[in-house]
Amino acid sequence: MPKPYVPNDKWSQRAAKEGYRARSVYKLIEIDLRYHLLAPGKRVLDIGAAPGSWLQYASEKIAPTGKVLGLDLKEIEPIAENVVTRVVDVSDLDRVTEAIFSMEWDKVDLILSDIAPNTSGVKDVDQWRSIELNQHIAAIAWKHLRARGTVVMKVFRGKDFDAFTHELKTKFSRLKVMSAAASRDRSREVYVVCSGPILASGK
Ligand SMILES: C[S@@+](CC[C@H](N)C(=O)[O-])C[C@H]1O[C@@H](n2cnc3c(N)ncnc32)[C@H](O)[C@@H]1O
Repeated sequence: MPKPYVPNDKWSQRAAKEGYRARSVYKLIEIDLRYHLLAPGKRVLDIGAAPGSWLQYASEKIAPTGKVLGLDLKEIEPIAENVVTRVVDVSDLDRVTEAIFSMEWDKVDLILSDIAPNTSGVKDVDQWRSIELNQHIAAIAWKHLRARGTVVMKVFRGKDFDAFTHELKTKFSRLKVMSAAASRDRSREVYVVCSGPILASGK
């Protein structure tokens, strides 16, 4: 039986104590500890970034020379000098491209996405919406990621998951799937980590 939703669990309490805007920061910390993705000087795009805990963590890890661009449907309160945020819908590739070019970046080193659809409570529908959003993330990564860059995507597992990862394997040279300890016990979310976009012309 899945465990019931606990709104004020240990991760939320820890986030409040450590000054992070959301409990999800501990998922990024775990991903970063495993794959060593964030380092000083990196150009990072964070999609589905509100309220901003991933931006807070990334901003510290890439300082002093790196920058993070955070995109979301919602406004994000200012974080730090090396963080720029924009209100953009991820399905609008032209607006995403515009936002990236406004940073004067040619290519991005790392794309992080913790994007989640508004959940309906109907498992198959929510899972499909998550896949749809991630198809946009994959298209952005394919267009904007540098050749040896990495993209991290949060995906809800379900019947379309295998077809999606199969499609990703045709576009990226490496793919790993990990679950994070801070994901709620009842959650079916996993993080798909892809690197090396195939056919990308980036540096
Ligand atoms: C789980 S939250 C991200 C939490 C964030 N990683 C943090 O640490 O604060 C998921 C975000 O995805 C955003 N989102 C959902 N659909 C989107 C879309 N089409 N375009 C951009 N952002 C979207 C939501 O607005 C929400 O803020």
